[in-house]
Amino acid sequence: MTYENPKLILAHSALREGSIMWKSPSNLAIVKYWGKHGQQLPKNPSLSLTLDTSFTQTKLHYAPRKVAGQDISLSLLFEGQPHEGFAQRVKQFFRKILPIFPFLKQLDLTVETQNSFPHSSGIASSASAMSALALCCCSMEDEFFGTLDEDEVFDRKASYVARLGSGSACRSIYPYWALWGETGEVPGSSNLYAVPMAEAVHPVFHTLHDDILIIRSGTKQVSSSAGHSLMQNHPFAEVRYQQARKNLYELINALRTGDLEAFGKVAEKEALMLHSLMMSAPSPYILMAPHTITAIERVWAFRKETGHPVFFSLDAGPNLHVLYPETIIHEVRPFVDTQLAPLCEESIYLQDWAGEGPEQL
Ligand code: PMV
Repeated sequence: MTYENPKLILAHSALREGSIMWKSPSNLAIVKYWGKHGQQLPKNPSLSLTLDTSFTQTKLHYAPRKVAGQDISLSLLFEGQPHEGFAQRVKQFFRKILPIFPFLKQLDLTVETQNSFPHSSGIASSASAMSALALCCCSMEDEFFGTLDEDEVFDRKASYVARLGSGSACRSIYPYWALWGETGEVPGSSNLYAVPMAEAVHPVFHTLHDDILIIRSGTKQVSSSAGHSLMQNHPFAEVRYQQARKNLYELINALRTGDLEAFGKVAEKEALMLHSLMMSAPSPYILMAPHTITAIERVWAFRKETGHPVFFSLDAGPNLHVLYPETIIHEVRPFVDTQLAPLCEESIYLQDWAGEGPEQL
């Protein structure tokens, strides 16, 4: 399946000026996507929690093109300022999706984008940023051609397009929980786009909190795309892909039945496996920091002492995600404030939780 459509070209009379704005969240994979092939196709299925307070807000302004040309005409402001690096990345993304939205080259495009989380907090912004852009393009198509008026059709296309910007971005389209990658466990699942999972999840997991400890801010030494490519000659690659499928099976069951302990076991196994894959890659590297390990030990000790279902996850960086259900927030927050926040840069942690997904503004 491909969404390429050469017919989506605007008649001269239909060209006009306008703008579209979307707010789209980041997401935290519990079973991780790590290793890809072809056009951003995952080596294993992944399942994520859609976040709420960590989001990107993007406005796409368009106007009939002043000077005709075959390349994209784009200017970009990131948090109110020009940003050459990000502008190039967005331009590359728009070039890639031109066969899907050929009308993009008929317009002068201006992107204004900002994140809710502090600049260079170490939070991966590609999922929220790329999903927000994909949603803007789908809205633009629908405004001009009226082709995406059914929600399900719109969301699927947005997820497909977001995937081409950044694999994990395809999961940000859906509320609460999303699965990306073909698996016999979920009918209709696909490597090309994510599918919604909220309805297959026990209500306790709709109340999940994610306190994100900013252990170290700044850009990481090894990007996710470099990490994905290191899986190509990784000695443990095949074992990893098998384990990911096994963990996915366990996670789906835990989410369905509301089993917090089983959920936490998978979340922690996956986080540590992701980092062990980095440490055992052909060119090994470490993204955890000393305080990441201390924070993990404190989470384990707190859980042992209190019996509370508090678990951790990690993304491809040093920042620890502390996960727990809403019911125990009054017991957990004092622990986070006194024992974990001091391990963070400037004692900063972000309070996030399961979110309702993107919103058009
Ligand atoms: O979407 P990418 O290419 O930035 O890769 C994301 C990789 C992880 O964040 C580590 C895992 C995931 O599934 O989100």
